[in-house]
Amino acid sequence: MLLAIPNVLTAEQVAAARDLLDRAEWVDGKITAGYQSAQAKSNMQLPEDSSTAETLGDTILSALQRSSLFVSAALPLRVFPPLFNRYAAGQAFGNHVDNAIRQVPDTGHRIRTDLSATLFLAEPEDYDGGELVVEDTYGVHKVKLAAGDMVIYPASSLHNVTPVTRGARVASFFWIQSMIRDDGRRALLFDLDVAIQQLSRDVSKHPAIVQLTGVYHNLLRQWAEM
Ligand code: NI
Repeated sequence: MLLAIPNVLTAEQVAAARDLLDRAEWVDGKITAGYQSAQAKSNMQLPEDSSTAETLGDTILSALQRSSLFVSAALPLRVFPPLFNRYAAGQAFGNHVDNAIRQVPDTGHRIRTDLSATLFLAEPEDYDGGELVVEDTYGVHKVKLAAGDMVIYPASSLHNVTPVTRGARVASFFWIQSMIRDDGRRALLFDLDVAIQQLSRDVSKHPAIVQLTGVYHNLLRQWAEM
């Protein structure tokens, strides 16, 4: 399931982030790439230990905790500290699959990357190209969202970023280990949650809502890994 999550960051947060990012020191993006993806990757990144990345990463992680849509769709167990990239004109990232396991810097922790996330930090009209292209079982999706919006998609998907031909594409990217490893099961739980919330708004007194909520939690209990 590929899902856009609007307004993860406010316009003020995006502006503050861009102010810091536009003054930051960027390095070659191959630092976080595996062997195959390093061949395909041409962009710049903030070093993982950069104080700007840590500050902005904390802002993003707090925003995610407040996003009920993100929590419902991702059922997050662990979120990788957000990274930041910048594609200037001529830069792109060819087709690749993200590494399955990532070491969280400065900790003994590893996360399994069930979901990949891209949080856009440049307005679409400020650059040409730079679409995120994700291939899944339902076809090819091109994603280019407003600054502050985020997309999540199964990290198992082949994806690429098309060449930027004008301006610069600035984004945060990171991964989520979900309590529900299987994308199909996670999508079912999300559909059920969305339906229950809609019923709760439209027919709030209906006794079946309690039963459906029980089904949701009992499926979560059966499938969740912690
Ligand atoms: Ni990737």
